[in-house]
Amino acid sequence: MAGFSSSLLVLIAIMVASMQFQSTVAQTRHVVGDALGWTIIPGGAGAYTDWASQQTFTVGDILVFNFTNGQHDVAEVVAANYEPCNSTRPISLVTTGPASLTLTTAGAHYYICTFPSHCQIGQKLTINV
Ligand SMILES: *[C@@H]1O[C@H](CO)[C@@H](O)[C@H](O)[C@H]1NC(C)=O
Ligand SMILES: *[C@@H]1O[C@H](CO)[C@@H](O)[C@H](O)[C@H]1NC(C)=O
Repeated sequence: MAGFSSSLLVLIAIMVASMQFQSTVAQTRHVVGDALGWTIIPGGAGAYTDWASQQTFTVGDILVFNFTNGQHDVAEVVAANYEPCNSTRPISLVTTGPASLTLTTAGAHYYICTFPSHCQIGQKLTINV
């Protein structure tokens, strides 16, 4: 009987430990574009589209936009403002890099650089969480 209850305790301890392990592992840091960073890439937005297609984004994950201060920034915008590169009243705007943004909601998210013409020539990223 004592053996049964102590193995039950061990089992519970293992379950609790693995739950904690999972919650630590679940928060992934995604460095946008990997070594490319967040910048203007020759050839347009394709590199960021390709990068995003190789990632799995989950609520709680962190997006890291790595850029040089004063040369780029990152704004999250609503879907309707993504294609026209409209940075008026963005959802959020971070002007200091590297910018770490936590993904707090599921669904599509849209990011652009607000510097003149940067978004138009491809400094934009859309992801699905
Ligand atoms: C950001 O870019 C710089 C210059 O390329 C690099 O040294 C640094 O490690 C990058 N930081 C991150 C978080 O990737
Ligand atoms: C840009 O977005 C703002 C805020 O959503 C909106 O009020 C404005 O009409 C948009 N401008 C254009 C040119 O679509």
